[in-house]
Amino acid sequence: MDNTLQRPQVEHAPDTGRRRFFNKLWALLGSIAFLELSWLSISILRSGKNKHETGAQDAIIKAGNVEDFAINSVTANARGQFYLACLEDGSFLALSRTCTHLGCSVPWDEEAHKFICPCHGSSFSITGEVLTPPATRSLNSHPLRIENGTIYVNTGRLEKPLQDGKPRPVKA
Ligand code: FES
Repeated sequence: MDNTLQRPQVEHAPDTGRRRFFNKLWALLGSIAFLELSWLSISILRSGKNKHETGAQDAIIKAGNVEDFAINSVTANARGQFYLACLEDGSFLALSRTCTHLGCSVPWDEEAHKFICPCHGSSFSITGEVLTPPATRSLNSHPLRIENGTIYVNTGRLEKPLQDGKPRPVKA
């Protein structure tokens, strides 16, 4: 008696027509997916570039008129969350209220005539320069422009400090 099982004979008919069709379909779908991904990547890159070029991140705030601010004074701008410093020579600075040590909010101390950080005691002059560590960098400043006696501050951007690390005052 023969114990071996007979496997059913399956015919592997060459179905090359259907196989070729599915191969082409997968290639087509793969190409479409690749094109969509490429288009998406290019769109993301271009939108970032355009934002930078057109200044879409700008947030201009009218801070007031030059004559509204006393010489050698600091005025908090609650809306823009910055300090407007009117320096001895009549120039202006828009200083960020964020401490450059670890980011606490720095109040202006009118009596001491300097910014004193409540967190670790760093202090900054009216021009934002470090007077007392642990902070090592001046307060950041926002770009500022004066047009027809009106002061405009761009709170959407921080300004590069001068070479010596000091913020850049703008003359009226
Ligand atoms: S966060 Fe201001 S001194 Fe540390």
